[in-house]
Amino acid sequence: MTTDLFACFPEARASREEMAEGAVLLRSFIGDSEAGLLAALRDIVAQAPFRRMFTPGGHQMSVAMTNCGSAGWVTDRSGYRYDPEDPETGKPWPAMPPLFRELADRAAQSGGFSGFEPDVCLINRYVPGAKMSLHQDKDELDFGAPIVSVSLGLPAIFMFGGLKRADKPRRFRLEHGDVAVWGGPSRLFFHGVAPLAEGSHPAMGPQRLNLTFRKIR
Ligand code: SIN
Ligand code: FE2
Repeated sequence: MTTDLFACFPEARASREEMAEGAVLLRSFIGDSEAGLLAALRDIVAQAPFRRMFTPGGHQMSVAMTNCGSAGWVTDRSGYRYDPEDPETGKPWPAMPPLFRELADRAAQSGGFSGFEPDVCLINRYVPGAKMSLHQDKDELDFGAPIVSVSLGLPAIFMFGGLKRADKPRRFRLEHGDVAVWGGPSRLFFHGVAPLAEGSHPAMGPQRLNLTFRKIR
């Protein structure tokens, strides 16, 4: 006789792929949160519009960004930082919607990290051609908490490397609704996104949005 381990947990059946030790890809994880997520995103962007920031080296990023939560990740000529205010508006970033927090916590839990309490959600907007070079997420104080990353819209190739910049990244296709979680031994792995291919997503149009949840304090 075989036992269906997942009979009581249909969510656990949604396909999952191990990217590395401590890193999983949860396919179609957003499920029926989609409509709520999109509505909340529209609200956030109305208060804190997407903008293309400048790196400390003076390059304008191809990815446009905004944030919600008690602080937001920003970059300008003076460096990278988490700022409690949106430098464009001088106002606090929009609050993190409870739905965001819940989804991030559920995903972290499925990735093996319990009690995730994100205080920041960086929202990235990619149009065809936009990319994100290999980098580590290391501006947070506490590397004990994982990173949870939700993909919406056009598919992207996510590159997931190792602790050294030179480690050859593996490539994963991230589609609308997929959630990636990395923490523990892979918390500081280099990662990035290859230039977005042309296309138009039925629900989102010619763009990809990515929500990256972090615990920064
Ligand atoms: C990031 O590393 O902040 C973005 C990752 C992604 O867009 O999937
Ligand atoms: Fe990142």
